[in-house]
Amino acid sequence: MKNVCVLFGGKSSEYFVSCKSAYTIINSIPKDRYRVIPVGITQKGDWYLYEGDTALIPNAAWIDSAEKHPASFLTHSQYPGLTVFRGGKVEQIEIDVVFPVLHGKNGEDGTIQGLLDMLAIPYVGCGLLSSAVCMDKSYTKLIVEKLGIRQAPYFLLLEKDPPEEKERKIAEAAKAFGFPIFAKPCKAGSSCGVSKAKSLDELKEAVELAFEHDNKVLLEKAIFGREIECAVLDNGTLIPSRVGEIRATADFYSYDAKYADATSVTDTNPDLRPGAVEEVQQAATRIFRILDCRGLSRIDFFLENETGEIVFNEINTLPGFTSISMYPMLMEEMGHPIEKLVEELIESAFQ
Ligand SMILES: Nc1ncnc2c1ncn2[C@@H]1O[C@H](COP(=O)(O)OP(=O)(O)O)[C@@H](O)[C@H]1O
Ligand SMILES: [Mg+2]
Repeated sequence: MKNVCVLFGGKSSEYFVSCKSAYTIINSIPKDRYRVIPVGITQKGDWYLYEGDTALIPNAAWIDSAEKHPASFLTHSQYPGLTVFRGGKVEQIEIDVVFPVLHGKNGEDGTIQGLLDMLAIPYVGCGLLSSAVCMDKSYTKLIVEKLGIRQAPYFLLLEKDPPEEKERKIAEAAKAFGFPIFAKPCKAGSSCGVSKAKSLDELKEAVELAFEHDNKVLLEKAIFGREIECAVLDNGTLIPSRVGEIRATADFYSYDAKYADATSVTDTNPDLRPGAVEEVQQAATRIFRILDCRGLSRIDFFLENETGEIVFNEINTLPGFTSISMYPMLMEEMGHPIEKLVEELIESAFQ
């Protein structure tokens, strides 16, 4: 039996998504081979070993359960593994591997990966640098540019830019791209802080909102096309999935369209022009490699209406595992149903 610590929740705008993803992962871990050690992280950043009902995780109700005990990873050889503080006593639980089912800040951005590196505990997914680079859309763009893969043109705004510099970039973007323009925080996810601005006034508001989420903001030319995604699994061999499509009925694929709007459609077998799937798979594999990804990633593109070309949008190193998430659905289509997939991911951490 290996002890698998599943980290969930987290100090991130995607706390609730993580709780949902963790529920799927915990339920799918084969219990005859692995012992699950669920560790919930509150929105304030407090860690708890959670021993209550798993059914309280997806709706984030675990937080009100009494069956949880403060826990932490300590950087001290006398306290290896997970240190649990239970009724005034200190306990150690040996941890063989960590599955950080955390999205966004503090989870998908290299921070938790750095802690686990220091502790020399194997973990599922991309390493520190790769996670950090993939989390920051401006750095990802610089590297993907090297591959010659098309992306939306953009301007980068920094919080520390003087106000007149920000104004200038906003005006230049409006002139160069026309409207709509997407404003998005460089480091966020689940569309938190992302807006589609249809006028200069809206764009200024959108920039302010985006700065609430990050100190770097991208202004991107809108790409008119279909939103397609490719899941990549690295279980020793790099496996790109078939291509899935997201069809949001909202104006764009916003947070609500992703998680609250039942009319958004996730299609794992869309009808695309000939050659599109192969192009996406090839681009996804090249992007996965150049960003030094490990284990898994979901790579998102647009298929532009006018040209039929593929345009890279972003990469998610810890894609959602909710009941409506594309990554597990696409992998199931590839012959990796969730139980098998989760086991392959756990085992990939030891490679
Ligand atoms: N340049 C763009 N052109 C068209 N739509 C975009 C563009 N950038 C973002 N979007 C829309 O906004 C959504 C969220 O943006 P995305 O870059 O994927 O950020 P997140 O990391 O929050 O998912 C996308 O799924 C898409 O619907
Ligand atoms: Mg996205």
